Amino acid sequence: MSFFKKVQTMFGSAAGSTPAGTATMTAPMGSSSPSSSSASPGPKISGVGTSGPYVAMGQKEKIVPKGGGIEGVRNIIAVGSGKGGVGKSTITLNLAIALQRQGLKVGVLDADIYGPSQQHLTRAARPEMADEETLHPSQYEGVKIISVAMFSGVNQAQVMRGPMATQLLRQFLTQVTWGDLDYLLIDLPPGTGDIQLSLAQMAPLTGAVLVTTPQEMSIIDVRKAVSMFKTLNVPMLGVVENMSYFVCDSCDKKHYIFKNGGGSRLAKELGLPLLAEIPLDSRVVETSDEGKAVMVQMPNSDAAKAFVQSAKTINDALVRQQKDGGDGGLGYFLLEWK
Ligand SMILES: Nc1ncnc2c1ncn2[C@@H]1O[C@H](COP(=O)(O)OP(=O)(O)OP(=O)(O)O)[C@@H](O)[C@H]1O
Ligand SMILES: [Mg+2]
Repeated sequence: MSFFKKVQTMFGSAAGSTPAGTATMTAPMGSSSPSSSSASPGPKISGVGTSGPYVAMGQKEKIVPKGGGIEGVRNIIAVGSGKGGVGKSTITLNLAIALQRQGLKVGVLDADIYGPSQQHLTRAARPEMADEETLHPSQYEGVKIISVAMFSGVNQAQVMRGPMATQLLRQFLTQVTWGDLDYLLIDLPPGTGDIQLSLAQMAPLTGAVLVTTPQEMSIIDVRKAVSMFKTLNVPMLGVVENMSYFVCDSCDKKHYIFKNGGGSRLAKELGLPLLAEIPLDSRVVETSDEGKAVMVQMPNSDAAKAFVQSAKTINDALVRQQKDGGDGGLGYFLLEWK
């Protein structure tokens, strides 16, 4: 039985009926191994390893990544934390839209196999089949998206062992027609486990964005993620502090509910830029629960402006690094921030 057949069996009928022309977990990626898809239009991973970031923003000609990569995908950026519930998924999506609004080609891969959020956040449709082995990603606001939740029922648990989750992740990387992308953002699950390790082994990550909330309780876990990224040789691009402060309706004062300044202290400690301080805003929750991003619904909100600024900072730094001839690491980039 093929891998996808097994997953389909696990999802059972709760996966719902399949609209004509859309994918099931059984058919699209077939039974062949990920590396044997030479006839498929899906991307292929070459030289799999952790050996190096690669950038090509603003470049006319294609830059061949040093450490190998997904064909056509110039930068893979993981959004991680170590801590659960700090806003990784929300930030991944809004950052992706912010990059897309800057004219870049962007995709989002939901690597949270056991607790996927991107389908809830976007209500993106079930992906269509490209051929019997390959899926076209779904789309939301011009961003390509894939998530295991697109294949399963809303309340259905992803019951699968670690190796199977890793295999699914591999197929999301290699058997999805990502096409030409400036950025593929990876929404990581909480923790420092199997998925993070596998991802770093399977795809050469350009870097990681660290997400934290201001209080020490969160920062303790982010430090563990920092240690993991260092071990995996994944360069860290910066810190996003989420739920930084709350501005109530009746006054303009910023209320620092989860304490003040944790994100900036962490960024300073790591010698990284503080990419954004995103306010705690009930409209973020409301729009998210409606399957719409705050970047789309409230582009003039402080939260949306913070996403735009973060996207610009990341992209500008990578473009600059490329222009200056950075060819095999973000060491230069990081030093610049120090
Ligand atoms: N700036 C914000 N203001 C208000 N609510 C927020 C903000 N950012 C995220 N949230 C809300 O916090 C909750 C958790 O967010 P999210 O799912 O993005 O976190 P996560 O880190 O991905 O969680 P998990 O570790 O479970 O994957 C959601 O309800 C989301 O709408
Ligand atoms: Mg999440």
